[in-house]
Amino acid sequence: MKSALKTGEDRRLAAVDSAAPAGAQGGLADVENNTSETQTPKPRTGSRSASRRPILQINGLSKHYVISEGLFRRKKHILKAVNEVDLTVYEGETLGIVGESGCGKSTLGNVIMHLTSPSGGTIEFDGVNLNSLTKGQLRSKRKDIQMIFQDPFSSLNPRMKIFDIIAEPLRTHKVAEGEALKEEVYKILEAVGLSSEYAYRYPHQFSGGQRQRVGIGRAIALKPKLIICDEPVSALDVSIQSQILNLLSVLQKRYGLTYLFIAHGLPAVGYISDRIAVMYLGRIVEIADKQALLEQPGHPYTEGLMSSIPISDPEQRGNKPKALEGEIPNPLHPPAGCAFHPRCAYATDRCKSEVPELREASPGRFVACHYPLHLAKGGVQHG
Ligand SMILES: Nc1ncnc2c1ncn2[C@@H]1O[C@H](COP(=O)(O)OP(=O)(O)O)[C@@H](O)[C@H]1O
Ligand code: SF4
Ligand SMILES: [Mg+2]
Repeated sequence: MKSALKTGEDRRLAAVDSAAPAGAQGGLADVENNTSETQTPKPRTGSRSASRRPILQINGLSKHYVISEGLFRRKKHILKAVNEVDLTVYEGETLGIVGESGCGKSTLGNVIMHLTSPSGGTIEFDGVNLNSLTKGQLRSKRKDIQMIFQDPFSSLNPRMKIFDIIAEPLRTHKVAEGEALKEEVYKILEAVGLSSEYAYRYPHQFSGGQRQRVGIGRAIALKPKLIICDEPVSALDVSIQSQILNLLSVLQKRYGLTYLFIAHGLPAVGYISDRIAVMYLGRIVEIADKQALLEQPGHPYTEGLMSSIPISDPEQRGNKPKALEGEIPNPLHPPAGCAFHPRCAYATDRCKSEVPELREASPGRFVACHYPLHLAKGGVQHG
């Protein structure tokens, strides 16, 4: 029994490794750049590099939108894009946030960045409650939180040269000027694997991967403490994704960065993260150490996400986790009880009426399910 389980664990981890974006296991020539991050760092396991000092603590965070529907748009509905999320991110770690499109991942990132205001809850960053700050204080604190976006083309001003794109935050926060500014910009370009001669070109003169390097350069310019990476590799060619993930790992070590890494699929999140939080319809449904979560998902939704990871070993294909069925429900009319119940192979009558709380199902692992899978403490061994 034990050895069969072990085989299953090995399979799942191997599956994530083999499904990691091409080149992430080394051996792929860097077609865009020849930089140190191509010496592939090992996939990260556990949160060894992270201290246990929380850098970001979110409590009961919500973001609701009022949506009008029907004739003359008279019917008002509340769309709970983010619904009472509690989350702690520790200094130096990468916390992955994963879930299908529309689960609320970007909204969560945007609310933390204060790009949109929360409907409720608190955000404590580096020991300070962001909600209590004045606009000026918030602006100064926000330089410690930066964001990398999915589409570097639309996030970079097409009329600005790369030099100015990277120099802008340094100028705004009066970090450097003149020769010192030039040196700093060149240093940042070097750190993201771009030669200083690229400084005087425009974004459209770069490939997608190079533009994302510029986006990353801009994000690290002010040496932030936390970077929210919102699907930073999803728009890139598969062969380039690994280079960007490796660059992020290299920069994390070099500058002691903490990442909140958002993606809709498990391969990228499983590759780069120390811990993983799984989101479904605005809520966190599971959060655990990466290794533990991938070895044995505790929430049926996590198991469903894992089924999308291709398994290269034909002998192991029979052990594929249960596939996700159906579509994500309309968030304006979420199902009662456990919002996942219409798609869940394990649902009971209780699931249709009782909302499961996010509870510690085993040490360090929190699951919002009445019958968490495979877990010793209070878990049910399903089929
Ligand atoms: N500005 C907005 N107004 C109304 N609904 C929004 C807005 N932004 C996002 N939403 C809705 O919130 C939900 C979560 O969206 P989002 O955070 O973009 O999800 P994800 O990033 O996981 O794909 C979706 O149903 C989306 O349609
Ligand atoms: S609470 Fe019920 S419906 Fe929801 S995930 Fe768990 S078993 Fe499935
Ligand atoms: Mg998104």
